[in-house]
Amino acid sequence: MIDQVSALIREAAAEVVLPMFQHLSSADVSEKAPGEVVTVADQRTEEVLSAGLTALLPGSVVVGEEGVAADPALLDRLSGTDPVWLVDPIDGTANYAAGRTPFAIMVALVRDGTAVAGWIHDPVADSLTVAEAGSGAYVDGVRMRISADPPPPGGLRGPIMTRFFPPGVREAFRERARVLGEVLPGLHCAGREYADLVAGVQHFAVFWRTLPWDHVAGSFLVREAGGMACRLDGRPYEATSEGTGLVAAASEPIWHEVREVLRAAGV
Ligand code: IPD
Ligand code: CA
Ligand code: CA
Repeated sequence: MIDQVSALIREAAAEVVLPMFQHLSSADVSEKAPGEVVTVADQRTEEVLSAGLTALLPGSVVVGEEGVAADPALLDRLSGTDPVWLVDPIDGTANYAAGRTPFAIMVALVRDGTAVAGWIHDPVADSLTVAEAGSGAYVDGVRMRISADPPPPGGLRGPIMTRFFPPGVREAFRERARVLGEVLPGLHCAGREYADLVAGVQHFAVFWRTLPWDHVAGSFLVREAGGMACRLDGRPYEATSEGTGLVAAASEPIWHEVREVLRAAGV
């Protein structure tokens, strides 16, 4: 299954995402909501992936970002009994539409509300981060164990996505977070943040808005690599877990360190 889905994702990247990258006309880009850009490539990629994924697993259904934008009732599939493919056809659309990297394709397989497999593909680098439940996470075939080598205190590195934070908390958290180490502004591509965590390039990522196609695959991959991805109350983040706020970290101690800073800022 892992390899078949990987091949399908690579095919969608080669046939749709990469040929249209830096070749979009203004008619190919629109706003589905204020400040939320979508391109013809997002829609075509989701169509191609949806057809391929449901063919791979008879009885499965798709919850894709663009499908839900057109019909929000599709989200109900996440609490049903059929296996669900969660699809973010292009993550980092604002970058993609502007002709910039990074952007990613993300897919998760969810059974009974729990992720059991995940894929993040960087089409430009042709890099794939994948995992199946219990098998560990792999980047381009190499097993990743992110918590093996803990950094020194104050030596952490990671992004804090404050765009959707409550206004009062945003500045207080940014200020206090400096104690952690190097706080990055974020790359506008959640998939890349998770892939960098799994690869050990960064140690944490903090998100406020937690739409399932943005976070289920990545959270699952981080856990399979030995890290932790939980709501602020410590519940593992899953597709149907209600609420806002998500901290992904390379290890449990790092997760608690970041959580403490949030607490001190009033969250
Ligand atoms: C966005 C990216 C971004 C995150 C936004 C998402 P999209 O996804 O993942 O990093 O901060 O919340 O909406 O819309 O480009 O698929
Ligand atoms: Ca996304
Ligand atoms: Ca998207």
